[in-house]
Amino acid sequence: MNVGKHFLQFKDFTRDEFDHLFARARWIKAEFKAYRKYWPLCDRTLVMIFEKASTRTRLSFEAGMQQLGGSAIYLNSRDSQLQRGEPVEDAAQVISRMSDVVMIRTFEQAIIERFAAHSRVPVINGLTNEYHPCQILADIFTFIEHRGPIQGKTVAWIGDSNNVCNTWLQAAEVLDFRVQVSTPPGYEVEPGRVGLHGTAHFEQFADPMAAARGADLVTTDVWTSMGFEAENDERRRDFAAWRVDSEMMRAAGAQALFMHCLPVHRGEEVSAAVIDGPQSVVWDEAENRMHTQKALLEYLLLGRIDDSECRAGNGSTSALFRETS
Ligand code: CP
Ligand code: NVA
Repeated sequence: MNVGKHFLQFKDFTRDEFDHLFARARWIKAEFKAYRKYWPLCDRTLVMIFEKASTRTRLSFEAGMQQLGGSAIYLNSRDSQLQRGEPVEDAAQVISRMSDVVMIRTFEQAIIERFAAHSRVPVINGLTNEYHPCQILADIFTFIEHRGPIQGKTVAWIGDSNNVCNTWLQAAEVLDFRVQVSTPPGYEVEPGRVGLHGTAHFEQFADPMAAARGADLVTTDVWTSMGFEAENDERRRDFAAWRVDSEMMRAAGAQALFMHCLPVHRGEEVSAAVIDGPQSVVWDEAENRMHTQKALLEYLLLGRIDDSECRAGNGSTSALFRETS
């Protein structure tokens, strides 16, 4: 079957492919800001399957697909047959015969891998317990907008070694930057589980201030991710010293940006003074989910096109997934 590419984890793409996506996202964003129409996906349908809650991921994919001239259909597991035990493999066969691209937010990475293995069309990871590649695509694009290339730079990750952290670590290997991670004891990164080739691009610190010192970007996330709510009380105790506050941003330095994938718990993983302060770029980061995912949808469905081809792009058919048998 010619299914093209999937984007199931960050390392599914090369540095060259990311450079292309960042260039396309810049162009697509400028077109959007200027109210210029760009409808290359006018006969294409995105299906979005959510097994966990979402604001940004749903909105950015749905609005983005519509802005590209396509349509987006929202399914949640509560009112689809997935909740009643229809096998993921069967759902993949059916859904991918009626659509051109599928985005899934679910629990274990194995679920999305199984779906992709039985899909006729590209599958995008909209967050799993293990990874959140669309988030880091947007985060790195945001970093580049503010500071230029990320190669050789240092990112400080403060808090849980969760799906977002794992994806930063994969990105550091692909795009050649460093991640300084500080987690509470018992929550450390396990490189084998993250799927890293080595440990050259990250370092673990017991002290969160040491991890933040001199970083170009300080970033964090909720102490308890979706699906782990039963651990909430324990995590509140364990993570109390892993809060990004003004003192930590001073240790990083005036050059440091602050990012958070959102939603945030002000006063837990980050102080209000930091997330609402001058070093924070969280609203750009959230907006850039849409621009970068539009570039991703364009790439998965139409392949590599450059700016000069765009004007003639309406109805382009360079990827014909519907023809596969
Ligand atoms: N950052 C992010 O993925 O947000 P949502 O959970 O609102 O989609
Ligand atoms: N780590 C968080 C990210 C939410 C966007 C979670 O998985 O709940």
